[in-house]
Amino acid sequence: MHEAATRIDELRALVGYHFERYHAEDEPEIPDADYDALVVELRALEAEYPELATNDSPTRRVGSAGRSTFDEVAHRVPLRSLDNAFDIDELRAWSERVLRRLDDDPVPAWACELKFDGLAVSLRYEDGHLVQAATRGDGRVGEDVTANVRTIDDVPDHLSDGAPAVVEVRGEVYMGRSAFEALNADQTAAGERAYVNPRNTAAGSLRQKDAAVTATRDLSFWAYQLGEMDGGPDLNSHGDTLTWLSTLGLPVNEHLHRFADFDEVVAHVARVEASRHDLDYEIDGVVVKVDDLRLQERLGFTARAPRWAVAYKLPPEERTTRLLNIEVSIGPGGQATPFARLEPVFVGGSTVTAATLHNADQVREKDVRPGDLVVVRKAGDVIPEVLRPVLADRPEGSREWSFPKSCPECGGPLVRLEGEAATFCTDHACPRQVRGRIEHFSSRGAMDIEGFGEQRVDLFVSEGLLADVAGIYSLDYDRISGWEGFGETSVRNLREAVEGSRDRPLGRLLFGLRIPHVGTTVADVVAAAFGDLDGLEAASIEDMEAVDGLGPVIAASVYGWLRRPSSRDLLDRLRIAGVNLVAASVVGTNVEPLLAGMAVVVTGTLAGYSRDEAKAAIVALGGTSPGSVSARTTALVAGEGGGSKLARAEELGVPILDEAAFDRLLDAGELPG
Ligand code: IVH
Repeated sequence: MHEAATRIDELRALVGYHFERYHAEDEPEIPDADYDALVVELRALEAEYPELATNDSPTRRVGSAGRSTFDEVAHRVPLRSLDNAFDIDELRAWSERVLRRLDDDPVPAWACELKFDGLAVSLRYEDGHLVQAATRGDGRVGEDVTANVRTIDDVPDHLSDGAPAVVEVRGEVYMGRSAFEALNADQTAAGERAYVNPRNTAAGSLRQKDAAVTATRDLSFWAYQLGEMDGGPDLNSHGDTLTWLSTLGLPVNEHLHRFADFDEVVAHVARVEASRHDLDYEIDGVVVKVDDLRLQERLGFTARAPRWAVAYKLPPEERTTRLLNIEVSIGPGGQATPFARLEPVFVGGSTVTAATLHNADQVREKDVRPGDLVVVRKAGDVIPEVLRPVLADRPEGSREWSFPKSCPECGGPLVRLEGEAATFCTDHACPRQVRGRIEHFSSRGAMDIEGFGEQRVDLFVSEGLLADVAGIYSLDYDRISGWEGFGETSVRNLREAVEGSRDRPLGRLLFGLRIPHVGTTVADVVAAAFGDLDGLEAASIEDMEAVDGLGPVIAASVYGWLRRPSSRDLLDRLRIAGVNLVAASVVGTNVEPLLAGMAVVVTGTLAGYSRDEAKAAIVALGGTSPGSVSARTTALVAGEGGGSKLARAEELGVPILDEAAFDRLLDAGELPG
């Protein structure tokens, strides 16, 4: 039982981490199939130990709100997810559960449609006009992406005559294969990195801050479900619903098939699997729904998904091709990953020219060699993988591959630690790693430093201006000014973005430091549990393991990282640079988030607080304390000698607080006047 609890905690953290990489950051790190395996294991353990199930488990979650810059939209009818069936037995078991729940009343028809691989959105039409479009978010609250969705040609601004007073339509925004290929051709021609897959690209395109960017992406839409409705016709079946939606002018996919006999459903699924790549859009399964709406009502929902529908997930596709060579790539964390250079092959919906081999053991176990004909799989249509060689076809005289001894980026030694699968370039100064650490640190989910993208990081590192993340806070702006692309405004913006990032809460900083196994959720949990960096540094490994959501693997990783001399040195320098080391809110002390949503800037010298203490007090009450005054600033706390910030606040009409008013703000959340 204790073991199960520990494993469940750990699985929750891992699933949460990879979920975010995929959904919130559109940057998956492991194949979908591996992710699914984690979820399946977690679900099985929760089913076996129902007393350990919690409402906030990722198995109950249906999407990610991520860290959003969009307004929130509460879904009046929650957007649920679907339960999955990974093979035909699971699919049949679902139909049997349905029949049992209906006391063996017959299901006259099963409706089969394609499972489009895009992202769910809800469109709200009032009197036939599109008034709002929202992403799924966590199923209850999504993001308002109306402006972005309006740029999609498939989505009508007005419905045909006869539209009811209110109709909310759910469906999938996706990017077709040819649109995706055209976009990538443009990217490559412009010397930019190609996008990974249509799904993530569609998601990224829809979540652009600037709808004008979305408008340049060729997105499409399929409607597949009705949400809220007021004043529409009486509908009897799912099939009728889709027909009606299409008469309103909404795009409905033509591949809807209804079967009376479940054996026909099974045969249909096999046909779809064989022909999935004849379509100009990606699908990752077949959704089977009970067609009759009255039966759907009788079946109802679980916390996560309808009982009347299931998603049959198609297994990843496999193809053979020639392995030209095995090379090693260095990741931003120094990990050396062997990968196969392949003769181009079309698999899982796109042309693959390289595929991961994961690590040295995998290469040996699979016994793949340069020159082999190999079986390639695109797992979950995300990361292509080499499965095995076709031994019958092995060229004569082929030789086993051995892991290179030196890093292809810096020439430093590649080292594999005892008992570990991964090999690393151990040169902390390896330029690939330096760049990777800095890029990650400044990225949106971490310290969010605008204008600190890949290209600039590359430039600063190669010009010797920047050697690690602490160096960001002592950048030599004088040297940068005047370089091409660095005019006065651009340098000022960069400096302001850097200054502003000092105040991010500790969770963001911890995530930014790229501690292994620490994603945004874990980073926030760690920060909240220990309050500030001193508290975290003082914690024992047992203290960490005792925190909800941290298993032994994560605890050991954080504990070990904090004790590395290079980490200590880095943290010292960040401390000296004035980077905030306090959590956004301190759990366990029951402080009310009095200042939630407030941005309070501090300037000048206060009698009762150091600048950092004042900022920490604001952050601890749920507020933020940016480094500069803007129109969004709630108030400016001005001590002795506040200069330019004071003038700026006056100019913008931002309330200015003296120390007594600041005390009242901290005590009661009150602003003067
Ligand atoms: S019906 C209440 N039908 O798959 C049921 N979903 O894995 C609502 N999806 O959240 C979903 N194609 O984003 C439905 N034909 C289809 C679909 C579909 C793709 C997506 C949708 C859903 C996810 C669940």
